Amino acid sequence: MNLIEEIKQLKTERNAVILAHNYVRPELQEIADFTGDSLELSIKAKNVKAETIVFCGVRFMAETAKLLSPDSVVLLPNPDAGCPMADMAAADAVAAYRAAHPEAFLVAYVNTTADVKAHVDLCCTSGNAEKIISELPEGQEVLFLPDRNLGGNMNRKLDCKMDLWPGCCPTHDRVTPEMIAEARAAHPGAKVLVHPECTPEVVAAADQALSTGGILKFVRESSDKAFIIGTESGILHRLRKENPGKEFYPLQPEMICPDMKKITLENVRDCLKNMAPRIELSEEILREAVKPIEAMIARS
Ligand code: 13P
Ligand code: SF4
Repeated sequence: MNLIEEIKQLKTERNAVILAHNYVRPELQEIADFTGDSLELSIKAKNVKAETIVFCGVRFMAETAKLLSPDSVVLLPNPDAGCPMADMAAADAVAAYRAAHPEAFLVAYVNTTADVKAHVDLCCTSGNAEKIISELPEGQEVLFLPDRNLGGNMNRKLDCKMDLWPGCCPTHDRVTPEMIAEARAAHPGAKVLVHPECTPEVVAAADQALSTGGILKFVRESSDKAFIIGTESGILHRLRKENPGKEFYPLQPEMICPDMKKITLENVRDCLKNMAPRIELSEEILREAVKPIEAMIARS
């Protein structure tokens, strides 16, 4: 039996579903029951009724799945797949901020640990940040964490003044406006689509800043034929597969998130065999950290 057949058989035996983020290796996207962005995956994790969820993505995403599906076993096939940006906001530092700013409303990007989510009021993803933030009461003191770029882009777009935690995504923060100018010169006429984890200067130089799901939708609905893609290169798999008549140029060939590449097919087979590594969260975290995510889903 080959590896794919083995995974399919184990998946049936374990009554498992495989969820995958748009950035993971193509072969994982191919075996997944559902591939999507953070918001789509959160909603799927809430509605999927499976004994076992295999989460191909990074830890904060698998934790979100566990918070929304606490009775399922949630497996993260490689326990080292983390998010450096999520790690830039430690739970005790967030709790200290909360204590020092009792009037502030804390909005956390979903790219945070479950421990941090237990200390905040509301979550958002890049797919719903604009809606969620625009609906906050006027005059409210707000802290946005941990991504200073997504928060800064929202401040600029919505003309608000959220305090920004000093975190960022190393993969997206490296992009510069000069890279966009070079890519436009190399591919005249191509639309430049970036992720809002890029800096405000980069977003200003691009044509659109969208979540990964937003990029896929924009391309699907666009009559344009060529696109420069300023986000993690894993998304190119779906873009090319779903849009055979269109051309895609990565903004930078090295736009790779090493953590998103950590899970392999072998890891998926092994986790289904061993029913480990699992996401385990304390009762308190399960109870507290789900609140800002449920509040987000209710507002989405
Ligand atoms: P999306 O919500 O757009 O899928 O992004 C998740 C992420 O980690 C981007 O770096
Ligand atoms: Fe985290 Fe950036 Fe990787 Fe997304 S691309 S998982 S934000 S490090």
